[in-house]
Amino acid sequence: MQYQFLESDELFTRVKTMTNVVKQQAAGVPKQAKKEDKLFGDIEKPINVPPLPAGFKVDVPQFDVSKRLNKLPRTWDLPQELYKKHLPKYNVGSIYRIQELLNAGEGYIGQTLTVAGWARTVRDQKNLCFIELNDGTSFGGLQIVVEDKLENFEQIAKTNTGFSLKVTGNIVKSPAKGQLIEMLVSDPTKHEVVILGQADPEEYPMAKGFQKPETLRQKAHLRPRGNFFSAVTRIRNNLAYSTHVFFQNNGCLYIHTPIITGSDCEGAGEMFRISTIFDNDIKKIPQVNGKVDTTQDFFKKEVNLTVSGQLQVEHFCISMSNVYTFGPTFRAEKAHTHRHLAEFWMIEPEFAFADLFDNMEAAEGYVKFCINYILQNNMDDLQFLDQRVKPGLINYLKDIVSKDFIRCSYTQGIDILLKAQKAGAKFENSDIKWGMDLNSEHERFIAEKVFQRPVFLYDYPKEIKAFYMKVTDDGKCVRAMDMLIPQVGELIGGSQREERYDVLAQRIKECGLNLEDYGPYMDLRKYGTVPHCGFGLGFERLVMMVTGVENIRDVIPFPRYHGSAEF
Ligand code: 4AD
Ligand code: MG
Repeated sequence: MQYQFLESDELFTRVKTMTNVVKQQAAGVPKQAKKEDKLFGDIEKPINVPPLPAGFKVDVPQFDVSKRLNKLPRTWDLPQELYKKHLPKYNVGSIYRIQELLNAGEGYIGQTLTVAGWARTVRDQKNLCFIELNDGTSFGGLQIVVEDKLENFEQIAKTNTGFSLKVTGNIVKSPAKGQLIEMLVSDPTKHEVVILGQADPEEYPMAKGFQKPETLRQKAHLRPRGNFFSAVTRIRNNLAYSTHVFFQNNGCLYIHTPIITGSDCEGAGEMFRISTIFDNDIKKIPQVNGKVDTTQDFFKKEVNLTVSGQLQVEHFCISMSNVYTFGPTFRAEKAHTHRHLAEFWMIEPEFAFADLFDNMEAAEGYVKFCINYILQNNMDDLQFLDQRVKPGLINYLKDIVSKDFIRCSYTQGIDILLKAQKAGAKFENSDIKWGMDLNSEHERFIAEKVFQRPVFLYDYPKEIKAFYMKVTDDGKCVRAMDMLIPQVGELIGGSQREERYDVLAQRIKECGLNLEDYGPYMDLRKYGTVPHCGFGLGFERLVMMVTGVENIRDVIPFPRYHGSAEF
């Protein structure tokens, strides 16, 4: 399903110019997310997940607990007080945050104070002017009522959507419906409205009513002025914050892994090369025998942007126990999908003395903590997204945190798909067999239709996974796990790591990689090796899940993907 929303219905310059749609919304008629008939330019079709065949049922798979490294599972719960964020009163100086005023209920009534922000709507009546001011700190804005006693009233009445203002006035109880307080600017000796910056209503792009997400992407510098992208941004911020709260309070050290690296963690060869010797004039590039002479480059060898911080974070894990990294990663994939970017952020924890099942517990605890955190701290934003972007979003999130995630082996997963196919499920890729790499339609079918909750699929055939994963006793699989989320697909990829020197060396060779490139990584298996595991969570995919946004390009401030690196 494609979504469509009204980006700037609150941004109409004058109430009198409201369209019927806006009027309906103002009258409380909820807007349904409509089916978009046109796809976003060059992007793939939305994934079609076949429905569950009638009467189709499978048992919830069980895994053999006796094989675990640590007999007792670790609890990843955190104390309740960590679920609520402390928020400051002021932006800077004595300028109050609008969020603080709105959160305080009637607490500020009777006080004279200053706020600053951008006008969302301006409506002038004869001797009054109504301004809805938003400073980005909260979904809702503060209604400002200016009386014509103010010296510059005429100028104030001419302001418009997008004007930046600093306002001093008195907080009073609002007579209007749907808001508890407003600011009254009525005393010329104490109150004032300072016009900081103008925005021509004819030109200001955010004052234009309906805007599609792809249109807004062309205006990435103004996107956060609108309801949609500011809601996504506040949620994204709190997801990053709750990530640190979760790992810090679970005893993990934050390690800054490098962005420039000589190794290819995933071995997929999808890396961006960095160089200071490339030149538009080919003759200026140092060469030997028709090839680029990399010894003359900045680092005196070939280096790239990292695809994952895992290899380096492992170095710290095998010295300091539990660690994590959270940084940008880069993949030169020419994928034009709703879920791929060329530059995205990844969270990668690594746990020592732990196996794949410990890894799953940590991943489940982490994802649930983040969702609960947003449910507690961003309800206004979620309500807007629930209404405009993904109907049912809040219930979808509550459902995810209320259920135990399923643990299902890859082999069991293939059996389920084959059974479903036999019962009539129609997959686009119908060639289902053990050993295949699952497509998104298969992954989502298992999570969304069969179990209707997140699923860890684990123990994949080694041929389709990276070299560093621990080989199982039968030699056929590796201890890999993917966390699959209904309506999203793969959110996390992780594994127990191969800690045995000889097996790892063998795997590196099998995968066609060069053992010499992995000297330090091999050393960790030579001196004091320990069982360990970790995972990588694609941060934008987490933001997509929590906001209900279907296109990954709409959850990152400045998206970079094949053919596009604007701003
Ligand atoms: O499954 P991946 O490739 O795993 C790793 O990189 C491991 N080194 C992680 C680890 O064990 N420390 O990537 C992890 C996650 C995926 O599950 C997905 O959510 C996200 O990163 N991801 C992308 N997100 C956006 N755009 C892309 N091109 C992505 N590729 C992977
Ligand atoms: Mg993966």
